[in-house]
Amino acid sequence: MRIGVLTSGGDCPGLNAVIRSVVHRAVTEHGDEVVGVQDGFLGLIEGRTRPLGLEEVTGILTRGGTILGSARVERERMREAVANAHGLAAEVGIDALVAIGGEGTLTAARMFSEAGLPVVAVPKTIDNDIDATDVTFGHDTAVWVATEAIDRLKTTAESHQRVMVVELMGRHTGWITLHAGMAGGAHGILIPERPFDVETVCCMVEERFSRGKKFAIVAVAEGAQPAPGTMRFQHGGTDAFGHQTFGGIGSRLAGEIAQWINKESKPVILGHIQRGGTPTAQDRVLATRFGWHAVEAVHKGAYGHMTALRGTEIHLVPIAEAVAQLKTVPEDRWTEAEAVL
Ligand code: F6P
Repeated sequence: MRIGVLTSGGDCPGLNAVIRSVVHRAVTEHGDEVVGVQDGFLGLIEGRTRPLGLEEVTGILTRGGTILGSARVERERMREAVANAHGLAAEVGIDALVAIGGEGTLTAARMFSEAGLPVVAVPKTIDNDIDATDVTFGHDTAVWVATEAIDRLKTTAESHQRVMVVELMGRHTGWITLHAGMAGGAHGILIPERPFDVETVCCMVEERFSRGKKFAIVAVAEGAQPAPGTMRFQHGGTDAFGHQTFGGIGSRLAGEIAQWINKESKPVILGHIQRGGTPTAQDRVLATRFGWHAVEAVHKGAYGHMTALRGTEIHLVPIAEAVAQLKTVPEDRWTEAEAVL
């Protein structure tokens, strides 16, 4: 068999571990040929592939990013490609495709699969918000990086009696912030699932200082929202074009705290540092297992399915099930975190 493999969407620690695993299983167990598709679906549409043998995947297990690259495709071009899904596999010279990606990639994989391209999907995202799998690889690494940042911020915050507001990734869900906030012992954890009252946050910080504590750490997800009307001050300035700019939620909240309780308060935006660098052992293991099961799924003809971790076992679930809804932080998980704030 000739199997194509691509990575699409934002990069994520563990992508290379999946690619390596796919190549090992396909080549050594099944005698398949594997080709790497460059730059995700864009490379598929443009027919840009390169052979991937054991030699090509040597040493990539520990590398962050993706050796295959990733790129966006305009909507219209994607629509045309899906309409030609049947022809695409023949044009590129593959019998099946393993598509590794997040929500957008899974949606595209589903469309291609329904249109006749034999696709097996592997879910990835640092956000951990894909409902059909208990965990996605990349999440553990992001949480580890964010936790280390909180640990480091504590010592500098304490030295200067400051408040540090650390903004973490997660536009729609707060898994990274919840887990890093718990692991790092943050004093406030603010997530998109629960609009927060700014006064409550300020009072919590003020109360900490009044108890003689010398610093406070607030972990806030980039998608967390203040309850309407609870921001008291105007934040941001004007950009080079004279337009009003508003910082992200981390900057705005740090500004609120500083003005509300008159304490020095600094925003720290962790950004893409959470996605870069080498994956944790746990992410490498999950990525490797997903790669193995994706190749087996191809050989079973389980197209239109995705690998998913359920408990400790890897299952195959319809891609449609995976993209039906986002996995948000449920109330009981929040309650457990709140108990140690
Ligand atoms: O979905 C992963 C993620 O890192 C989100 O947490 C974040 O909001 C987004 O991607 C950032 O996307 P980009 O790299 O396109 O700025």
